[in-house]
Amino acid sequence: MSAVGIRVERLSKRFEHRVKGQVYAVRDVSLKVEPGEFLTLLGPSGCGKTTTLRMIAAFERPDAGRVFIGEEDVTHLMANQRSIGFVFQNYALFPHLSVFENVAYGLRVQKRAEREIARAVAEVLDLVGLTGYERQLPHQLSGGEQQRVALARAIVIRPRVLLFDEPLSNLDARLRVHMRGELRGLQKRLGITALYVTHDQEEAMAISDRIAVMNEGVIVQEGTAEDLYHRPASEFVAQFIGRTNLLAGRVLSVAPGGIELEVAGQRLQMAGSDPGVRSGEAVRLVIRPEAIELRPTTSGDGLVGTIEGRTFLGEKVEYQVRAGTHLLQVASHDPAQKGAFAVGQRVTVRLPTDGVHLLSPG
Ligand SMILES: Nc1ncnc2c1ncn2[C@@H]1O[C@H](COP(=O)(O)OP(=O)(O)OP(=O)(O)O)[C@@H](O)[C@H]1O
Ligand SMILES: [Mg+2]
Repeated sequence: MSAVGIRVERLSKRFEHRVKGQVYAVRDVSLKVEPGEFLTLLGPSGCGKTTTLRMIAAFERPDAGRVFIGEEDVTHLMANQRSIGFVFQNYALFPHLSVFENVAYGLRVQKRAEREIARAVAEVLDLVGLTGYERQLPHQLSGGEQQRVALARAIVIRPRVLLFDEPLSNLDARLRVHMRGELRGLQKRLGITALYVTHDQEEAMAISDRIAVMNEGVIVQEGTAEDLYHRPASEFVAQFIGRTNLLAGRVLSVAPGGIELEVAGQRLQMAGSDPGVRSGEAVRLVIRPEAIELRPTTSGDGLVGTIEGRTFLGEKVEYQVRAGTHLLQVASHDPAQKGAFAVGQRVTVRLPTDGVHLLSPG
């Protein structure tokens, strides 16, 4: 079976709020997941991720908008007619049913023959690594195993697409990282289109082909993890994806070869040209912690700073560096050489000439 995509057109949903009256949980959301693609909706709590997913699955009725699975308009179809597999955060397993019966559930609803059910269940339990667990009850399983059962239950009906709502958030950190690798591998092996919801930016970056960032009911930016990290379209995205420094600056001159900026009292020559800015304009600079370099204070020009905080994280050291009115986040991935900076030490801060992204003042 070849994969089919998901298309959402201008989906909106309002809820009654006791204090605020009618409020939009989701507003005019349009979205396209390509066949076989893994797309993640990423955003803070309450931004409308679950509501969007539930409308696609027909667990929630949209006020406006349309949902397509492949070329088919499924907006007016019920949940069980949409051929969607759904994996919930809390697994939602039937506590009194065995692993086998939990997974078989959707097939029994479809009134499949007993032999066919046995074969299909065995096949998906093998896929998720749970062969031999058929007779266990959910409470006899670890969180990770329960999540695998939920996944097996979602894929056994051979859905056209898979939806996931924070499926890993009840697992401990190690298992979460392990399971997201497995999930991703399985999705690619099955070649099935997946729409995934999380508020965890690292998880989103690790698991997705593309990410759609949501805030307050709308999608604010879509792209690969690299796009969002290196070219955030707004302060919100810059802050939400990874750690960042946002510095106010001013454009001194724009030439074909580069842009000259003033930032933190320093002149900064930026390579390349940014079509969006004009000379004299106020801008904000997005500078990632790993792009800033620290040197012992005697070593030439740059900002003078003082180390205010230092966190050793194994593969990197994170510093908070006070430079004038700015408190900069700096990450050093070369601890053997540069990890020597101590709290209270004076350093020279070298801002990068590339790896700087400009935002217009908003
Ligand atoms: N049934 C409901 N009745 C009233 N308001 C609701 C209902 N469901 C959701 N909302 C509101 O809609 C908004 C979006 O909720 P939603 O559950 O989609 O957020 P979310 O992005 O999934 O958040 P989280 O990361 O916390 O799960 C929230 O403000 C929420 O309070
Ligand atoms: Mg949610």
